[in-house]
Amino acid sequence: MKILVAGGAGYIGSHTVKELIKEGFEVVVFDNFSTGKKELLVGGELFVGDLIDKESIKKVFRSKNIEAVLHFASLIQVGESYKDPRKYYTHNLITSLNLLDVMLETGVKNFVFSSSAAVYGVPLQIPIPESHPLNPFNPYGQTKFFTEKILQDYEKAYGLKFISLRYFNAAGADLESCLGELHDPETHLIPNILLFLLGKKNNFEIFGTDFPTEDGTAVRDYIHVKDLAKAHVLALKKLLTSSQSEFINLGTNKGYSVLEIIKKTKEITGEKVLYREGPRRKGDVPVLLASREKAEQILGWKLYHSNIKTIIETAWNWHKKTAETL
Ligand code: UFG
Repeated sequence: MKILVAGGAGYIGSHTVKELIKEGFEVVVFDNFSTGKKELLVGGELFVGDLIDKESIKKVFRSKNIEAVLHFASLIQVGESYKDPRKYYTHNLITSLNLLDVMLETGVKNFVFSSSAAVYGVPLQIPIPESHPLNPFNPYGQTKFFTEKILQDYEKAYGLKFISLRYFNAAGADLESCLGELHDPETHLIPNILLFLLGKKNNFEIFGTDFPTEDGTAVRDYIHVKDLAKAHVLALKKLLTSSQSEFINLGTNKGYSVLEIIKKTKEITGEKVLYREGPRRKGDVPVLLASREKAEQILGWKLYHSNIKTIIETAWNWHKKTAETL
């Protein structure tokens, strides 16, 4: 079965391509390499194209006989989305509409979407269930929210089937250190600490020490990227055998504060993490924790690698390796 993976050369996309191939799916990676990286291609066929260009999407659907789509291609920086919302609405929303248009035109009905915990906004309840009200407050989160609304309308009107996966904090690297996080610029916590330890960043700053949490720093739900990738394969299999569309959280229900992550990193790397304390980053909420009951019930999803030790260890191995080679 031929699966189009839009954004298959990105961090989560590439890990998912690896899992899909292992499970026997035929994969076509569609990427424009604006943020994706050639180093993260692990197999499948490559089609270089841009989702903003509907003709290139039509071309891949016509030539490759695509039967289902996993859509990872997206801009992900919350801070940038405040400064340049047009970029986010264009590259996250118009591109998704283009992809869905071509799917409908060619009769492809199965769609797995990379959504985000950002759709919930400031949580009113912890852990956050999928039924929690959706109040995204940054443009990035709005693009995910609007895409989810579009999916619901397209399901009713055109029979599209989808599973929208709401990620919490993806982290870690694959166990073989072949794939890992390679964002430019890097904004995420764990890689920022590790890049600082490797001398690839000049400083490391904690964004906010006055949150209403136990130690004053923000708490997040870190999930290993390999577990995240497996969830996509399960979601695809579910879509192919059922007629039910779903919104599903992908998180662990366990949280770590920024200071706890720093402490664990020191334990694992043996390196002291020097940091300075800075103000809160715009748009950061104190605590994000997922309820993962639905993922377990609907997808049969299990966590194998999402303990914080494995997450930091695999990320550390990957960053050490890429610091030498890239
Ligand atoms: N942080 C620091 N210093 C850094 C980087 C991050 O203190 O150098 C802090 C952040 O302020 C935050 C926590 O570490 O409190 C985690 O930050 P990340 O950037 O790693 O992750 P976020 O929770 O901000 O972002 C993630 C996803 C986004 C998504 C968001 C909300 O990466 O795509 O969750 O769901 F929008």
